[in-house]
Amino acid sequence: MNTLIALNRVNKSFAQAANNDAVLKDIDLTIDDGESIAILGPSGSGKSTLLSIIGLLDEPCKGEYLLRTENVTSLTKKQKSQLRNRHIGWIFQNFNLIASMTVLENVIQPMRFNADIKPAEYIARAQSVLAQVGLADKSNSTPDKLSGGQQQRVAIARALINEPALILADEPTGNLDQKTGEEVMNLLLSLSAQGTTLVIVTHDENVALRCQRKIRILDGQVTYDGE
Ligand SMILES: Nc1ncnc2c1ncn2[C@@H]1O[C@H](COP(=O)(O)OP(=O)(O)OP(=O)(O)O)[C@@H](O)[C@H]1O
Ligand SMILES: [Mg+2]
Repeated sequence: MNTLIALNRVNKSFAQAANNDAVLKDIDLTIDDGESIAILGPSGSGKSTLLSIIGLLDEPCKGEYLLRTENVTSLTKKQKSQLRNRHIGWIFQNFNLIASMTVLENVIQPMRFNADIKPAEYIARAQSVLAQVGLADKSNSTPDKLSGGQQQRVAIARALINEPALILADEPTGNLDQKTGEEVMNLLLSLSAQGTTLVIVTHDENVALRCQRKIRILDGQVTYDGE
């Protein structure tokens, strides 16, 4: 297996934090191509902070982050946002779709920052990914006309549009009923079966059971990493 991401002794603290305690403490973590990983742990344990660092939305205070073999820690903000756009798809608990845009426009948006895709291809590509998530007929709807599960599938389509190596999902089923949550998980795991690496933060042990690897976090430290 090829290593996609390596975190070495990653630490994170926030200046405004109540007791100045580090939120992430010496995290060592390697993620290989094609893995499906669930990150579990109590509220406040540091799961979203860890995902934000993996997803290049935030940076460690100390430690090293390698994407492939490239040391990301020293890159500029602009270089990081370009890496994020090309290689990482994000999915959030509250979907984070742009309310004033149609479904199609939401899915097109990440391509506008990807110079490898020509504008003439935007619509056909977006429609093909929307068909993949079962929403071909919703292209022209706005998000408020969709159910939660449909909105999350639009968010998944948007995350997939630049064909990322890595999909990061923070509580993707947290706002969905059980059946809809299972459908969203089926979709995410089918992507993983096709080779996309998947990291899911979840409170749901059933969601975690469906992932190959579980990582448990407590007080900013990894307490379990295994099957
Ligand atoms: N921007 C910030 N500024 C200050 N403190 C922060 C910031 N972001 C997170 N924290 C603190 O870091 C700790 C971990 O937060 P984090 O959001 O990573 O937890 P979590 O495990 O995702 O919790 P939950 O399950 O509730 O989403 C918390 O104590 C939180 O208050
Ligand atoms: Mg969180």
